[in-house]
Amino acid sequence: MSSKDLKMFRVIVLLSFLVIRASSLNNHSFPNNFMFGVATASYQIEGGWDADGKGENMWDWWTHTFPEKISNRYSGDVTCDSYHLWRDDVEMLKHLGVNHYRLSISWSRVLPEGTTNYVNQKGVEYYRNLFQALLDNGITPLVTIYHWDLPQPFNELGGWMNPLIVDYLGDYARVCFQLFGDLVKNWITINEPQTTCLQGYTQGYKAPGYANEGEGIYLCAYTHVLAHARAYHIYDEEFRALQNGTISIVLDSSWSEPASDSDKDLEAAETQMEFILGLYANPIYNGNWPRVVIDRVGTRSLLEGYSKSRLPEFTQEQIDYVKGTYDFFALNTYATNLIYHQIDVNQSIGKASYFLDSGTGSKTDPSWKTVVGWVNDVPWGFRKLLNWVSEHYKRPDIFITENGWSDYTGELNDQDRIEYIGNYLSAILDAIYEDGINILGYTVWTLMDNFEWQVGYSQKMGLYYVDFDSPNRTRTPKASAEWFAGVIRGRCLLDQCEN
Ligand code: NOJ
Repeated sequence: MSSKDLKMFRVIVLLSFLVIRASSLNNHSFPNNFMFGVATASYQIEGGWDADGKGENMWDWWTHTFPEKISNRYSGDVTCDSYHLWRDDVEMLKHLGVNHYRLSISWSRVLPEGTTNYVNQKGVEYYRNLFQALLDNGITPLVTIYHWDLPQPFNELGGWMNPLIVDYLGDYARVCFQLFGDLVKNWITINEPQTTCLQGYTQGYKAPGYANEGEGIYLCAYTHVLAHARAYHIYDEEFRALQNGTISIVLDSSWSEPASDSDKDLEAAETQMEFILGLYANPIYNGNWPRVVIDRVGTRSLLEGYSKSRLPEFTQEQIDYVKGTYDFFALNTYATNLIYHQIDVNQSIGKASYFLDSGTGSKTDPSWKTVVGWVNDVPWGFRKLLNWVSEHYKRPDIFITENGWSDYTGELNDQDRIEYIGNYLSAILDAIYEDGINILGYTVWTLMDNFEWQVGYSQKMGLYYVDFDSPNRTRTPKASAEWFAGVIRGRCLLDQCEN
């Protein structure tokens, strides 16, 4: 940027502060121990897809074998090149002044074949250097063990449809605790199984591309829940006493607002929450699948002619093993939907389908602000979601592990992003001070524009703009980066806040 452009940019940033100040945001300070951070994931930022002995993962295979499945046939082969440029990332994190950085470990970079027989020392060094640099700068690493990049040998075994993955994930998690547990004290076992199971194993537009509407999501959910519990127990039994950390799973959900006051729509919205979030959260926080899911899938499976439910049954031993495997509730959320009743449980029998199982329909309100469609600026929906989670899962501490705004341009003067994040942070303050919910922290998705899965680089969510045409992947702060740094410094959304 020329110095003239830079001046102009600063004026714009100043204006954005003024706009935000003029709005009706909550005027409390964030609690002293509230953590502010940003998130990324290995496949989306690292590149170096075969560097220094890294093995192939499911997304390497998917993007290389079916390039037509990704916008503009892009891949994460190089993406932000953080495998080589990670020091730049640390500088950006320092500039933002974040308390934590949520990032993930690439399974195939540490264990190239997926199994524990061979550990790639270069991969280990990469993560140890990065974690150490974060700690040296007072930034807490919040580390996701598995963020969608399954080693390809396991994908060839059926991936998350195969319960053997439970053992492999457990073995890999143990290696992570052994290799990094002296530096990392805050662990996430698995990222967003809901999205994987829906988009990768039911609709098939994310890797590994299974379009299995009848069973896909349930088999996938079953394996994920058990794999998470395995990793949790390994930490709990073999490492916690020595390493003294915390561990949970990241679950994602939009808020399901009833489309009308009719009893049927009220019930449909609740059912939708259970099919989206409860499918994963209920076994972990309360024990077993949600009742409504057991009943609806069971009834429909029998009517469809199956001899038993398409939803795998947990044994009592498994229910007990999974229940309680959390230290806090890690939540990702981006939007609100309007949910309405569509079909009764015994209607439209014929095609086995997760979507028919729930019997709900979903739409949004055209007045809600959105650019990309799947993210909308509805902070009251976010607050309702926080309350729903709190009430349904025994009032756990909640950590927002992802939230953010998406656009198509990556514009530097990203006022919509500032407004959205400001509104959602304000809803957090409402939830803390008015609803009495304990919220530990907030994490913006994402540090910088990066590989957004099937849409490639066409949707941008970063606080930093990345020039993907430059060999050194130049990173430039957007207005939102400066604004977020200011919020973190002041621990307040306005000029001045009440304590
Ligand atoms: C969900 C995922 O965890 C992350 O990988 C993705 O890029 C963001 N949310 C935005 O879609």
